[in-house]
Amino acid sequence: MSSPSVIRTHQAIKARASAALEKRHIAGIDIGSTRFSCVVARVRPEMLNRTGRGRDSDVFAALELESVAEVPAAGVYQGVIVDVEAAAKALRNLIAQTRLQSGIQVDGALFALSGGSPRTLQANASSEIPVRRIDDAVIGRVMARCRQEIAHRIRRPLHVEPLDFTLDGKSGVYDPRGAPARSLGVRFSLITVERDGLQALASAANAAGLKVHGVACASAASGMACLTEDELTLGATLVDIGGDVTGVANFKGDRLRSVHALTVGGALLTADIAQALDIPFDKAELMKCAQAAGISADPSILGGAGPGEADNLLIGVIRPRVEEMFELVRATLPHGEHRPVVLCGGGCRMPGIVEVGQAVLGRRVRLGRSIRTGGSKNATSAQDHATAHGLLAHAVRLNCDPWNEAMENALQGERAFSGLRAWFAEHW
Ligand SMILES: Nc1ncnc2c1ncn2[C@@H]1O[C@H](COP(=O)(O)OP(=O)(O)OP(=O)(O)O)[C@@H](O)[C@H]1O
Ligand SMILES: [Mg+2]
Repeated sequence: MSSPSVIRTHQAIKARASAALEKRHIAGIDIGSTRFSCVVARVRPEMLNRTGRGRDSDVFAALELESVAEVPAAGVYQGVIVDVEAAAKALRNLIAQTRLQSGIQVDGALFALSGGSPRTLQANASSEIPVRRIDDAVIGRVMARCRQEIAHRIRRPLHVEPLDFTLDGKSGVYDPRGAPARSLGVRFSLITVERDGLQALASAANAAGLKVHGVACASAASGMACLTEDELTLGATLVDIGGDVTGVANFKGDRLRSVHALTVGGALLTADIAQALDIPFDKAELMKCAQAAGISADPSILGGAGPGEADNLLIGVIRPRVEEMFELVRATLPHGEHRPVVLCGGGCRMPGIVEVGQAVLGRRVRLGRSIRTGGSKNATSAQDHATAHGLLAHAVRLNCDPWNEAMENALQGERAFSGLRAWFAEHW
């Protein structure tokens, strides 16, 4: 099996998202370690502007939220499906919940994967250019030259993003259109995950009767849901604190720069509490969530301790672990840049999480909520299911990328591109 090139992978990922947006409804399914969620939106195709996703055209208005459903996760460990049959059963249940709620029969979706050990790589292409002024056609031709192959044996690409351009050797240019130059270079970021995790997801989806319209890293999807346009452009980091995984996605220049997945999350806090108090995991989970809701812990768990003592013990267990989690996050942040951090995921419901995050990370931290899927029927769903909401925003972003048309035009003349459908069959 030949390895696919960066540019063909980029086009293939985009083509699948665009195909999903051609249907009446689009669904995003987050395969989390503690719960599976499904968000369905109606697509208003007239609002999708394929050529110019500018600040003045709100292409996300094309998504009109119809349904949000969730079921407990099954068959998932550290963000990866380890029991296909159990996960498929939970997915069938999720689809049934969605149908019950909205009458919509979901038969395909974009999926989010929180585990799979994502890694970020970069690829480049450059060319001497015959014209003095750069336009879309020149950009498309240079991008299409990125034939670097992606090693495909044990990892698969989920995200391929053109990051920035180099003009006559000067790097870091986000939009080179109109600039006079003799040479133009482009840099892509590639985010890959372990092949086995992706294949297990495809098998579970298939067993549940669902087509896979694309797969994204969960934290990247959450970032696309929660970060404002300014944060995406000027630079920000999304930290999604889940059950088994804390995902970190860095954005700048309106592009996804890197993704990390740390195998620590809310379940570790619960396990710490269970161990410290010598109680079962389920009881510790209830106590943790009650504490987050400001409900005092029952003193009887400590054999009749005085009022407040159980709470102090709980805080004494939780705080150091949360600090440790943020220290791990800090190690993944880009050096020398003080971009703000936005938190989401069930784990960020811990009281005081913003303050602890700020103290450890030394930068501005805020709580995030989904802001890109219109028509939300209730506000909590937008806060609760950021990843699944973000999958829909991800599809729209892919579909409306400003360089799509230029790249497609450049590639169209090439016979290699006509084999795109065969590529799908071969590589997914
Ligand atoms: N009110 C709350 N207070 C504290 N923690 C909470 C609260 N509600 C949920 N959590 C924690 O959030 C975690 C689950 O978060 P989330 O639903 O985002 O995870 P997930 O997406 O299923 O998993 P992952 O992203 O790790 O694969 C659990 O550890 C849970 O204990
Ligand atoms: Mg999650």
